Amino acid sequence: MAETALVIDNVDKIYRSRRKAPVHAVKSLSMAIAKGEIVALLGSSGCGKTSTLRMIAGFEEVSTGGISLAGRRIEQLAPARRNVAMAFEGYSLYPPLTVRDNIAFALKSSNTPAPQIAKAVEEIARLVEIEAILDRYPSSISGGQQQRASLARALVRRADLYLLDEPMGQLEPQLRSVLRGRLKNLLVERGMTSIFVTHDQTEANALADRIAVMEGGVLQQFANQKELKDRPANLFVATFIGEPPMNVFDAAVENGERVRFAIANGPALDFAAAEVPEPVRNAIGRRGRAVIGIRPHSVRLGTGDHQARIVSNQWLGDQSHLAMDVAGKLMVAVSHAPVAAKAGETLRYQIGVQSLHVFDAETGAALSHGTEAA
Ligand SMILES: Nc1ncnc2c1ncn2[C@@H]1O[C@H](COP(=O)(O)OP(=O)(O)O)[C@@H](O)[C@H]1O
Ligand SMILES: [Mg+2]
Repeated sequence: MAETALVIDNVDKIYRSRRKAPVHAVKSLSMAIAKGEIVALLGSSGCGKTSTLRMIAGFEEVSTGGISLAGRRIEQLAPARRNVAMAFEGYSLYPPLTVRDNIAFALKSSNTPAPQIAKAVEEIARLVEIEAILDRYPSSISGGQQQRASLARALVRRADLYLLDEPMGQLEPQLRSVLRGRLKNLLVERGMTSIFVTHDQTEANALADRIAVMEGGVLQQFANQKELKDRPANLFVATFIGEPPMNVFDAAVENGERVRFAIANGPALDFAAAEVPEPVRNAIGRRGRAVIGIRPHSVRLGTGDHQARIVSNQWLGDQSHLAMDVAGKLMVAVSHAPVAAKAGETLRYQIGVQSLHVFDAETGAALSHGTEAA
């Protein structure tokens, strides 16, 4: 087991002000991050990502809860005493300093010898492709360049933890993908424990060892990419992770000689009890309703007991995306071979019980997952 670097223990953040209603931005957040681990905080705007980073760095107080880093309690320490390097969402470079001096700033105040500082600054500037503008001032460079300068300023430091808030959000896709690769190499090579914020799943998947999915101030699931896809903890994660999103339907459930999930007044997915994995049967128990989830990649097309009308059929160059009408709701299916059928025609399909996800109709919590990786 790897050594633990950061422990966030039951942290809440409530912003209070005299004029406005309080905002409960982060709710009972607990997570532990291993030394050298790269973690993505993934979630939509306003879900509490920046608040979480700012509490770890010390720019916001925790309302309640504790934070430990490298074996010390840090939530009461001043930011400068936490040994955390942060690249801010809004860059916050010092306007009177050149890009070079901005990047070198923390190293200078740590008494690093000048030649060593110069070398480290050049190295990191090359990595983020800003060598040519090191002697410019922040006001005379573009937003994307400021963002890279801010990233360089954090990465150049020696710290116990690196917090990167949407570090590449302003960059165009090509540069972004190149930098992503270089950033990953740097973090891995130097064993830098890091948390970066993103709302881009591809970026989270490409960079992170584990992904923390947040929504409404609540950590929904903290797991690796495969686990999030194969075993989503609830309906939010199930439909948030994966492209195209998981199909979900309300279903009436029968658990007897046959196990049936009936979708509205449409088709029933109907299985002989013996086919249904034990955990699925146990999880659905006697409940009469559930939400079922089917990944688009798990719908088998052109064969099977069911038929649906095709609403649209798009060939994307390497895969087909089909939208089909199932009991008045859309079901999206993905096929890696072209599908000849046109909109308006009907097509047979099959859904294996092995790829069925079942969720509690009231709480949205996952009850069981098929055994087939989708
Ligand atoms: N200083 C603040 N005062 C009051 N509310 C805030 C403050 N900062 C953030 N919030 C609110 O807290 C919630 C979470 O914000 P934030 O952490 O910035 O989310 P994210 O980074 O995921 O977009 C939002 O509702 C936001 O409006
Ligand atoms: Mg933010």
